[in-house]
Amino acid sequence: MKKVGVIGVGEYFPKKVLTNFDLSKMVDTSDEWITTRTGIKERRIVAKNEATSDLAIKAAKEALADAGLKAEAIDLIIVASITPDTQFPSVSCLVQKAIGAHKAACFDIEAACAGFVYGIVVAQQFIAAGTYKNVLVVGAEVLSSITDWEDRNTCVLFGDGAGACVLSAVKAGGIISTYLGSDGTYSDLLMLPAGGSRMPATCDTVNKHLHYIKMRGNELFKLAVNIMSAAANHVVEKAKIKTEEIDLFVPHQANVRIIQAVAKKLKISENKVYINIDKYGNTSSASTATALCQAVKTGRLRRGDLVLLDAFGSGLVWGACLIRW
Ligand code: COA
Repeated sequence: MKKVGVIGVGEYFPKKVLTNFDLSKMVDTSDEWITTRTGIKERRIVAKNEATSDLAIKAAKEALADAGLKAEAIDLIIVASITPDTQFPSVSCLVQKAIGAHKAACFDIEAACAGFVYGIVVAQQFIAAGTYKNVLVVGAEVLSSITDWEDRNTCVLFGDGAGACVLSAVKAGGIISTYLGSDGTYSDLLMLPAGGSRMPATCDTVNKHLHYIKMRGNELFKLAVNIMSAAANHVVEKAKIKTEEIDLFVPHQANVRIIQAVAKKLKISENKVYINIDKYGNTSSASTATALCQAVKTGRLRRGDLVLLDAFGSGLVWGACLIRW
């Protein structure tokens, strides 16, 4: 089996910053509540004419440049998103058109906040099997488009952004172990009720705010801590290493308290945890993707380091991935 690694990373965040103070003028909340309960200080929000593919394309171009590859060299594009520009065509096809990756096959995956980790694992299979050489994986979201800006329980949590990476066969390092899991029995804890075939859009669904994220945060919190810890332990045991050997932990950024609780359970010290939720909030599939990219750009993640990706989301779905960088 070929060793598969990440050979380039990219990210893009829209320019507009929405602070906790701004939110306190929109709903009954405060900077103090949001900061202490979530760790979030601000998030990015798209401009009126910006959609998910616009963010994805910018992140993808940066990842290609970082990998030193031309778009024609990409054989497969996978975009993970729960907020595609349209129900169809896929965001991956829109990315293909914009970057000129005319040889690539394209599809989107929907694995909510774990989508980027799912994308990496899918890409790894294709490359290891010899089907494709270079795969572009993007996590991109415009969560502001499905956020109820009148619901203080959810609107303080989410933001927009995109992260990308290019995977290819590598001689040294690469993906060591992976793990994906799901549990559909919790499917009603985090969902968007209307707009699909179960409840097609009507004036009534719009008036009832059913095209926005509905979440039972408290129940999710405990599940997230336990499931993310278990997923991480799974890949660590599979790789026959100890969590103390991990150089950088890049978790899904849903709540800083979830991240801290998981790190504590895993015995990973605080200085080895990459956190950017304070600046961007929860950006779902873009979260681990942008965190990984920033960790590389800022020198927190260096060649030879052992990095652990760990994500969890609506479904429920989760995934972890251990990579020798
Ligand atoms: N500002 C002020 N008060 C708020 C608020 C806000 N933005 N949002 C909720 N509250 C209030 C609630 O109404 C509640 O008031 P009450 O006690 O009078 O009923 C109180 O704060 C406590 O709410 P609770 O939901 O118990 O808070 P919490 O400590 O669990 O924090 C979350 C809420 C959502 C931040 C937290 O549960 C969480 O992060 N859960 C996980 C969510 C998640 O990970 N989702 C994505 C998965 S990928």
